[in-house]
Amino acid sequence: MTPRPHHLLAGLALALGTMAASSAATITISCGSNAADLEWCGKFAEEWGKANGHTVKLYTPPASTTDNLALLRQQFAAKSSDLDVIMVDVVWPGVIKDHLVDLKKYSKGAEAKHFPAIVANNTVDGKLLGMPFFTDAGLLFYRKDLLEKYKLQPPKTWDELASSAKKVMEGERAAGAKDFQGFVFQAKAYEGLTCDALEWVASFGGGEIIDKSGNITINNPNAAKALDTAATWIGTIAPQGVLNYAEEDARGVFQKGEALYMRNWPYAWSLGQAPDSPIKGKIGVSALPGATPGKGAATLGGWQLAVNKYSKNVDAAAALVMHMTSAEIQKKRAIGGSYNPTIMDLYKDAEIVKANPFMGELLPVFTGAVARPATVTGLKYPEVSQAFWDATHEVLSKKTNGTDALRKLEGKLKQVKRTKW
Ligand code: GLC
Repeated sequence: MTPRPHHLLAGLALALGTMAASSAATITISCGSNAADLEWCGKFAEEWGKANGHTVKLYTPPASTTDNLALLRQQFAAKSSDLDVIMVDVVWPGVIKDHLVDLKKYSKGAEAKHFPAIVANNTVDGKLLGMPFFTDAGLLFYRKDLLEKYKLQPPKTWDELASSAKKVMEGERAAGAKDFQGFVFQAKAYEGLTCDALEWVASFGGGEIIDKSGNITINNPNAAKALDTAATWIGTIAPQGVLNYAEEDARGVFQKGEALYMRNWPYAWSLGQAPDSPIKGKIGVSALPGATPGKGAATLGGWQLAVNKYSKNVDAAAALVMHMTSAEIQKKRAIGGSYNPTIMDLYKDAEIVKANPFMGELLPVFTGAVARPATVTGLKYPEVSQAFWDATHEVLSKKTNGTDALRKLEGKLKQVKRTKW
């Protein structure tokens, strides 16, 4: 339809009005890389651009947070202004702190409405380097219909998970679903494996790799037992291929209807419940199991929006960050994309909780999630995490066992630490 002339004129006047206030800029935003990110981040950023006389371009980062960070660090080294707004993983602020704008001047205190622990995580040397965008914690997704069919309850312990997965897998395979899997998760050698393995270790009482004072605690029998237990899943209830799975690989299998259990982040809920999803209406969500009931642990994940220090449009980029992290947009993203808000009040929002029952029921999982040792290790976190995921991957691939791998890992971490973090 061709717009009628008076609409055109009104639009022009509006555009001129906003342009006078702040000159038109082209802002490139990094929004995440899965289908939901494009729809629930890209769309809102573009709408903001249109309303404010700016052009918004989307940059799709690599799906793996590890590759995403590597690329960003190259761009920072070159002082590149290509990206204006950057989506920052919760474990990055200490790593990329020198390349981000202090947002205090723009936030005008808006951060006070967000979870204080996330704001503290994003504050380095007194500078607010990112506005919280969404928070994450590891969850257990299960097939409600299949647990009912086999008269099973969602597992409270890893043993229950393994035995029920075996039972259902055997039953479904015998019934003709020959590729059916018991459990899918993230076991590729990358940051996602650090997240999954920290959950196993913490749920066995094996600590958090490095404690809050910087002591290397990972070389302990409970942690070794956790890794050895996870290794028994590979090739039994989980496919051998899980050693190369990231989030989207696991979701692909689960959403096709070919797995009973999946460990993943909240975003998988809205995609699994989408109208074209084969498992729509059949998904349950619970806290992850523990070595004993009630001891499950979830790794804290989540993303912030930040402004690149080398951006040529810092003011407009910061305005976009404030808009995208506002209650209005966080609510839309929660309802449509099951991204957990970082604004505390939104957990009382009836529409959000209706669309994502787990956000209400599992609130303690989100508020009690275990942080990776990123704050204490600062710039060295990527090396620490890589050493941990490599050690874990070797145990899962049965190249070594938990005890030997963790003894070696302790030595490696001491080398990385030297005298201090
Ligand atoms: C999710 C989490 C992020 C984590 C990543 C690992 O995106 O939000 O914190 O690092 O998964 O793959």
